[in-house]
Amino acid sequence: MIRVLFVCLGNICRSPMAEFVMKDMVKKRGLEHEFYIASAATSSEETGNPVHHGTRNKLMQYGISTAGKYARKLTKKDYTDYDYLLGMEERNLSNMLRITGGDPKEKMHRLLDFSDNPRDIADPWFTGNFDVTYDDIVEGLEAFLDFLIQENAIPANTQNNGAV
Ligand code: 4NP
Repeated sequence: MIRVLFVCLGNICRSPMAEFVMKDMVKKRGLEHEFYIASAATSSEETGNPVHHGTRNKLMQYGISTAGKYARKLTKKDYTDYDYLLGMEERNLSNMLRITGGDPKEKMHRLLDFSDNPRDIADPWFTGNFDVTYDDIVEGLEAFLDFLIQENAIPANTQNNGAV
């Protein structure tokens, strides 16, 4: 079981988008039983709130529901509970380090650090552009899954029943 926690500032836009798109991707590859996937915030600003309508509307285009997800803050315990804690931007990483007290096992990365073009994922709460967020997140997730295949953590020869 590979445990992945996506982290952003509010846990209502980017990290739940990554959580639910990844759940959909691994299901389409027949790998849902290999993963435990969740998301959390570095701030308590949105704690208890549902996913932002911009993320909900974007994911609805792909038949992906975020029902039942409410924002929660990252805890120190998450560091032991998860294998990968993937932030969306540099600022998330510094806040994640502050909350967990460090990253001795090198579990923390930016999602797009796995891609050929490492960079931050801009916050659509400020930009209003959830299309760019979605494209960036799909690019990062595909690169992350390729990384796990190279690490022999998941099999390469799985069926992909539909592009995301
Ligand atoms: P997210 O977006 O980090 O992608 O969930 C934000 C949501 C809420 C706030 C900031 C960013 N906020 O300041 O409340």
